[in-house]
Amino acid sequence: MKQEGKIQGMKKLPKIIGHRGAAGLAPENTLAGFRKTVETGVRMIELDAKLTSDSHVIVFHDETLERTTDGQGAVAETSYEAIAKLDAGRWFAPEYEGTRVPLLSDTLDYFRENDIAVNVEIKPCPGRERETALKTLEVLAAHWSEDAPLVVISSFQRLCLDLAQEQAPHWPRALLTHHFEDGWKEAVKELKAYSVHGNFAAFGKTRAMDVQLLGAQAAAYTVNDIETTKILFSAGVDSIITDRPDMLAAWL
Ligand code: G3P
Ligand code: MG
Repeated sequence: MKQEGKIQGMKKLPKIIGHRGAAGLAPENTLAGFRKTVETGVRMIELDAKLTSDSHVIVFHDETLERTTDGQGAVAETSYEAIAKLDAGRWFAPEYEGTRVPLLSDTLDYFRENDIAVNVEIKPCPGRERETALKTLEVLAAHWSEDAPLVVISSFQRLCLDLAQEQAPHWPRALLTHHFEDGWKEAVKELKAYSVHGNFAAFGKTRAMDVQLLGAQAAAYTVNDIETTKILFSAGVDSIITDRPDMLAAWL
């Protein structure tokens, strides 16, 4: 069902956004990792939203379980009950043993309680674009509100952003792009995008300005060193998405 609400996009992106929490510092896309990220003083966190086989929205990046859990197989073919039993922290460091894959709902509740802004990247498994977007929007409607901190919905999948615009136009949208592919400017205009999140290597000297001329903000991912950050900020980039927000925050 279409959601109504006040446009939330008047707020500015912070200069630093933690990538999957702080993926270089703590297990990505987990509550333990998000807590560690918040300890660094970061005020906005990017995460990936994906569906289990039984359509629970979990916070998870890969299409398969192997890299970041002790499980195996495709996320799209595994139930939430099975995923909830997996260890999502031990692979990163022994002290994170017992860390679980979180639900998006619990994660949003944690962010709201701690006044943390969030960039929800809708990351569907192939063929599940519509369902993933609609379920993610449902969870957002139930667990976020207009007086909560900024939420930005991003995706590489145009269908997901179109659905966000149609169903929940009050939540700001971000176009995700690897290389500023042909048609990106039209997409920004059609989506009334709040921001464009591009691969840092594709920015060059003028991309940030191109984005801003369209009325959007420019964010670059994934930047993990100070030299590159300096170059991007000099080129006018508004925000850096980083695995090491602790390091960049200490430098800023
Ligand atoms: O949102 C920026 C970044 O997260 C996009 O790439 O693969 O890390 O989700 P990925
Ligand atoms: Mg992501």
